[in-house]
Amino acid sequence: LVLILDYGSQYTHLITRRIRSLNVFSLCISGTSPLDAITSLNPKVIILSGGPHSVHSPNSPTFPSGFVEWVQSNGCFVLGICYGLQLIVQRLGGEVRVGEKQEYGRMEIEVEKNLGILGNKKIGDRQVVWMSHGDEVVRLPEGFEVVARSQQGGVAAVENREKRFCGLQYHPEVTHSPEGMDTLRYFLFDFCGVGASWNMENLVDEEIKVIKGTVGPEDHVICALSGGVDSTVAATLVYKAIGDRLHCVFVDNGLLRYKERERVMETFERDLHLPVTCVDASEQFLSKLKGVIDPETKRKIIGKEFISIFDVFAHDLEKKLGKKPAYLVQGTLYPDVIESCPPPGSGRNHSHTIKSHHNVGGLPKDMKLKLIEPLKLLFKDEVRQLGRILNVPGAFLKRHPFPGPGLAVRVLGDVTEGNALDILRQVDEIFIQSIKDAGLYDSIWQAFAVFLPVRSVGVQGDQRTHSHVVALRAVTSQDGMTADWYYFEHKFLDDVARKICNSVRGVNRVVQDITSKPPSTIEWE
Ligand code: XMP
Repeated sequence: LVLILDYGSQYTHLITRRIRSLNVFSLCISGTSPLDAITSLNPKVIILSGGPHSVHSPNSPTFPSGFVEWVQSNGCFVLGICYGLQLIVQRLGGEVRVGEKQEYGRMEIEVEKNLGILGNKKIGDRQVVWMSHGDEVVRLPEGFEVVARSQQGGVAAVENREKRFCGLQYHPEVTHSPEGMDTLRYFLFDFCGVGASWNMENLVDEEIKVIKGTVGPEDHVICALSGGVDSTVAATLVYKAIGDRLHCVFVDNGLLRYKERERVMETFERDLHLPVTCVDASEQFLSKLKGVIDPETKRKIIGKEFISIFDVFAHDLEKKLGKKPAYLVQGTLYPDVIESCPPPGSGRNHSHTIKSHHNVGGLPKDMKLKLIEPLKLLFKDEVRQLGRILNVPGAFLKRHPFPGPGLAVRVLGDVTEGNALDILRQVDEIFIQSIKDAGLYDSIWQAFAVFLPVRSVGVQGDQRTHSHVVALRAVTSQDGMTADWYYFEHKFLDDVARKICNSVRGVNRVVQDITSKPPSTIEWE
């Protein structure tokens, strides 16, 4: 295990992912975790991340006392990156100064010693790296040597081979450091002697073993499938482990896309053979949403209805089996886990609730279910890889995200008014199908149509019309936190708008949303 101690750098997740891409398992925990949280994971290598702090600020985060002694007596290797390097220097008796030479952005560094963290580079070899630091190392702790310096003469790489400590003042994990991956590779495989055995095939076998070992031979497990990638992959994995003792439910809340229920059920049943009960609760949801206009109220109603349906499902199952289900499967991913215990000073815990997001599968009130979260340590792209190994169809794995409250947040205002949902489904289908036909689906994070509660005047077949306006939204994004609108060619937009007005009765105007996030959000409600 390579353990990353997070001191709040925006690149910390990237370090974790880069190391995993080298087939080495890595995890990240808060940089101020107590010593036993670190030692209980028994890491072979520890990486101290960068961060926005200065080691001189009061309360700047640091590793616990006893850390260095534990590392020494357990043969562990340590790499400090940027702030992590400065922490090592300061805590081991060197000196860090508020920088005369601040270094930001692209820099050249030159190798001074050819026995080092930088591999078999020769003295005088140069490489381009990405720096971002205000403080600088001015005196190394005893036993440390400078391996490379920046073009301004600043310390860029250090090591103490005997103590197994290394440090880089720059960020090897970013693509702006072109030789950074080589450095990480050299550090892990040659310097630390780590093996590259972590991969998705092994992970499937391991996870199945863990699930089998956790769930008793008589225990039953339930799972709410949303039709999204995470819950589907999680359920498929659990099904491989315990077969028909898994019971899934898929809720049609009347807010699904065009033919969504049929398409999703086909994947569950035909491709994955998952035991799924499909509950048609559209009337129940829509009757509760009648007349509701406020977006947050809509979300809360939908969340509550999901839980009540899940509750009924679990109780019915209990009657049928003669015993309570013992576990609930959830498709929680690693970023959700990290976000819920953010490192100090990262600001990640100070965010405002912009919208109350919800996912299906809230815990029924009195079931006292234990959780199985088989994807808890994985990033989204790793879940997709896992899905591929589990034979989840590729097209399903690449689906754009779809919000839990479904089309309720894409019909502005009262979702039950007139045939708004029906119109929206038809428009959305034309838009998405056109995007697929044009080969653009995979370049877009999310695309959808929005039904606006306004009418405009038009002329169709020499007749004056007073019909609905729909908006098209397509965005690019890395994680949904920020987004830019997608630049379609005019010809494409022209074709789509024409097709919509010609084939969807009740629509006479199509507009495109060209705002980024921020200031907008991706969904309209
Ligand atoms: P916003 O609209 O907040 O959306 O910019 C960011 C991403 O989150 C999705 N989204 C949700 N997903 N439950 C979900 O599972 C929700 O309640 C929810 N609301 C928004 C949205 O589609 C986008 O991908």
